[in-house]
Amino acid sequence: MVQPGAATGTLAAPHSALSANPAAPILLFDSGVGGLSVLSEVRKLLPEAPIIYAADNAGLPYGEKTEAQIAARVSGLLGRMTERFRPRLVCIACNTASTIALAAVREVLEVPIVGTVPAIKPAAGLTRSGTIGLLGTAATIRQGYVDRLEAEFAAGKRLLRFGAGELVGAAEAKLRGHAVDPAVYRRAAEGLTGQPGGEEIDTVVLACTHFPLVEAELAGAFGPGVSFVHGAPGIARRVEFLTGGQDFARNQTDLALFTRAGDEIDQLQPALAAYGLGRVGIF
Ligand code: DGL
Repeated sequence: MVQPGAATGTLAAPHSALSANPAAPILLFDSGVGGLSVLSEVRKLLPEAPIIYAADNAGLPYGEKTEAQIAARVSGLLGRMTERFRPRLVCIACNTASTIALAAVREVLEVPIVGTVPAIKPAAGLTRSGTIGLLGTAATIRQGYVDRLEAEFAAGKRLLRFGAGELVGAAEAKLRGHAVDPAVYRRAAEGLTGQPGGEEIDTVVLACTHFPLVEAELAGAFGPGVSFVHGAPGIARRVEFLTGGQDFARNQTDLALFTRAGDEIDQLQPALAAYGLGRVGIF
């Protein structure tokens, strides 16, 4: 994986973080396990930070929902979670939610918010062939937000997009310890390489936080000569910057919150524990 530049793939609140209670958590939010790809990068930079990882599994997959459904769900949940847990910072570790609802969420929340946007800018800096692939959810790839990033950072390049929502289920299944049919990864790769000019792709933007969790499988499906880029390292740097100078008092283990109880959570527990999430709650 190629590391994108400093603030790449990241949007931040216009005001910097205020001094916080040392036990106040950083709240990472996604529809499912995808945000764990962001959590691992945040953990590398902020090993002592208390973190709550919130997964709206009752709403998964966001990529198949309408813009209005996603905006309402994300604003409502983050409003209630912020009231209850008083985080020092909220990170929307989800491209779909960020490209659709970031502005709405900022209107209702007072805390600093870091969002996730497709890492088109670093991809444009890396490509040698001038052809970039972008894998996202169906909802993300149709956003004007992506059009604007393309116009601003990839003018003169070719950006081919493919809605690979199937990979969300693949990443969820992988983390539950279930086998995934490799044809899922081949379909995602062919969704890009099969487009006119697609054989020129040398850089692929993983524009969904679930996808870095299956990067090795995708690399196998694309074959050699293709690099992957995503926003998680840049997001982590932004979170570190916005919490700079603050004190942290972390519990032994962090809390994973889900919006719906079910067997899937038991199946996920070994993977959650590997990310330092030893406690589970239902919100
Ligand atoms: N992880 C989310 C993203 O980054 C999307 C997964 C979903 O479809 O819910 O876009």
